[in-house]
Amino acid sequence: MKTIKILSLVFSLIITTSPLSAQQKAITIGTETKILKPYSAFAVTTDETARCLNCHATKMPKLVENWEHSAHAKNGVGCYECHKAEKGDQTAKQGHFSFNVQLVVSPARCGSCHQEQYQEFAISSHATAFDTIKYLPMRKDNPALFETSCVTCHGNIVKMKKGKAADNSWPNNGIGRINPDGSKGNCASCHGYHTDSLAIARDPSTCAKCHKTDFSPAFQAWSMSAHGSTNNRSSEEVDFTKKHLNLSDDAILKPNCQVCHVQASTKKTQATHNISSRLSWKLSKLKADHTDDWGSKRLEMQKTCRNCHASTQIDQYYRKLDAAVVATNHIVDKKIASDTPIWEKINLQNSLLAFRVSVAMLGTVNPLKIEELSH
Ligand code: HEC
Ligand code: HEC
Ligand code: HEC
Ligand code: HEC
Ligand code: HEC
Ligand code: HEC
Ligand code: HEC
Ligand code: HEC
Repeated sequence: MKTIKILSLVFSLIITTSPLSAQQKAITIGTETKILKPYSAFAVTTDETARCLNCHATKMPKLVENWEHSAHAKNGVGCYECHKAEKGDQTAKQGHFSFNVQLVVSPARCGSCHQEQYQEFAISSHATAFDTIKYLPMRKDNPALFETSCVTCHGNIVKMKKGKAADNSWPNNGIGRINPDGSKGNCASCHGYHTDSLAIARDPSTCAKCHKTDFSPAFQAWSMSAHGSTNNRSSEEVDFTKKHLNLSDDAILKPNCQVCHVQASTKKTQATHNISSRLSWKLSKLKADHTDDWGSKRLEMQKTCRNCHASTQIDQYYRKLDAAVVATNHIVDKKIASDTPIWEKINLQNSLLAFRVSVAMLGTVNPLKIEELSH
């Protein structure tokens, strides 16, 4: 810490004595352009952020250290640029050592610099995951349990009053939370915060935070599949911190979650932050249904497969998946009548989802369960 401080002092002296130094960088947000000053060997800052750091670097040294090694710090995106709030915003802390700050950093704030990712993410099932649970009776009947169960993955409405969380609604890592500015979702669910690391977002164990459940065992199924089982060994050469990865340039031999669901499939295609955009089925419904425009979504997913497989392997995979999904829908027709109790429907829905997801991800999770249900 000491060296960092001394360095930053030296740098700021250099900058103030020679304001037109060739090393000067600037950051433009909206219409405003600000000159950046060196803070340490890794980080540059605006004047505002330099003031946050004066204090926070000693109060929360590790938090600041995480940020300092991020791509953001290198590019002058600091505390103020993410946490600043409008004057008069009643959800934020007005007058935090003469600044207005918001604890919650929404996707809309990230989107002010990352438009494309924000817009794609905003129409995904991830961003709307709170809609799925908002009618649950438990939300009103037992908010303490609601907050600590469904909300941990799906998110809820984050209520802030003068910068403090109301009704236990924060911390909230849910991927579909509703933010104080009204925007939906949470980029930090996958990217974490302050490191904003690409390596973290690309790690299957990040998806596993939410996708390793009994009812949707995507992580377990992938781990035991031909794709996941020896993945670590075969991806040794890959630099997961690199900004753009694609199958034609990088040494990816077996696919992780993000290879199929997020990443660009070729040099000519683009990554997507809408994880729904390559799915031909909505497997989580009691009777699974095709998604809108499912044929073209399936073709999008297949572009990825084609880097590693011939058509027969890919077509046969989808034929098996389709046949299995249709067979699970027949089970629903057989077992569910108009007077079936709701809890029985939910149990069946969860069991069938678990089976369908494991088929899709090429794993086999509890085959005995589907044997039992098929009678
Ligand atoms: C003079 C010292 C000082 C300055 C300057 C300062 N902060 Fe803080 N900040 C604090 C302290 C102290 C806390 C509370 C720490 C605690 O409660 O553990 C805090 C808390 C915070 C929190 C968390 C609020 C919460 O409820 O948990 C955020 C976010 C924050 N500051 C952002 C900023 C930003 C952004 C800047 C610059 C625009 C800034 N701070 C400038 C001292 C400062
Ligand atoms: C790229 C945007 C970004 C930058 C830059 C950034 N933060 Fe944050 N910060 C976040 C996000 C996202 C969260 C998680 C809060 C939430 O939305 O739930 C967070 C949370 C926090 C918290 C509360 C969490 C805790 O562990 O107590 C504090 C305090 C904080 N930030 C301070 C800072 C300080 C000080 C800096 C400057 C060194 C900084 N932040 C820079 C995005 C950012
Ligand atoms: C003030 C503008 C700004 C804001 C706000 C902002 N970013 Fe960034 N972000 C940048 C810049 C500049 C870079 C570095 C250049 C680049 O990679 O495009 C960057 C890089 C990144 C990267 C790539 C990191 C790497 O290692 O290459 C990720 C991921 C990212 N930002 C996520 C976020 C998230 C999540 C938020 C909100 C919590 C956020 N950003 C807020 C400007 C911003
Ligand atoms: C550990 C994380 C996690 C928790 C906790 C969680 N869910 Fe989910 N939920 C998911 C995931 C992941 C999916 C997506 C499954 C899929 O599509 O394969 C999902 C899907 C659903 C769906 C189907 C969505 C649709 O669009 O058809 C419903 C309904 C649902 N969850 C309700 C709940 C309820 C109610 C709770 C609390 C009792 C809850 N979830 C708790 C992660 C979670
Ligand atoms: C479901 C997890 C997930 C969520 C949520 C998420 N990201 Fe990402 N993000 C990723 C992955 C995985 C990559 C790496 C993609 C690749 O390899 O090309 C990435 C890459 C990025 C990059 C680097 C450039 C690029 O597009 O490849 C930026 C910038 C970024 N994300 C910003 C955001 C912002 C802003 C949000 C919120 C609006 C967000 N992300 C939400 C998983 C996520
Ligand atoms: C913080 C929790 C969380 C994390 C982290 C997360 N997800 Fe999800 N994911 C969910 C929830 C909740 C749903 C169900 C959304 C709904 O209610 O419809 C979901 C749904 C999905 C779906 C189904 C989308 C659809 O349209 O049916 C896919 C595919 C998916 N996630 C992939 C991923 C991948 C890949 C990662 C990691 C890069 C990831 N998720 C990380 C919580 C999460
Ligand atoms: C080889 C590519 C591939 C990999 C790797 C992969 N998936 Fe999938 N995933 C698919 C395909 C294909 C489907 C079914 C697509 C369809 O509906 O057409 C699917 C479906 C899903 C679904 C169910 C969506 C629904 O309709 O409810 C979830 C959730 C999911 N994946 C999450 C993950 C997670 C988490 C990982 C990593 C642990 C992962 N996937 C790894 C290709 C992959
Ligand atoms: C980065 C390369 C890569 C991508 C992308 C990829 N696979 Fe694979 N796939 C492999 C490898 C490697 C194996 C395993 C060969 C072995 O067993 O050694 C495999 C195995 C398989 C198997 C055989 C499973 C078994 O149990 O034997 C199927 C089916 C399959 N992949 C389908 C797909 C589909 C469908 C997609 C696209 C959604 C896809 N793969 C994407 C590399 C890839």
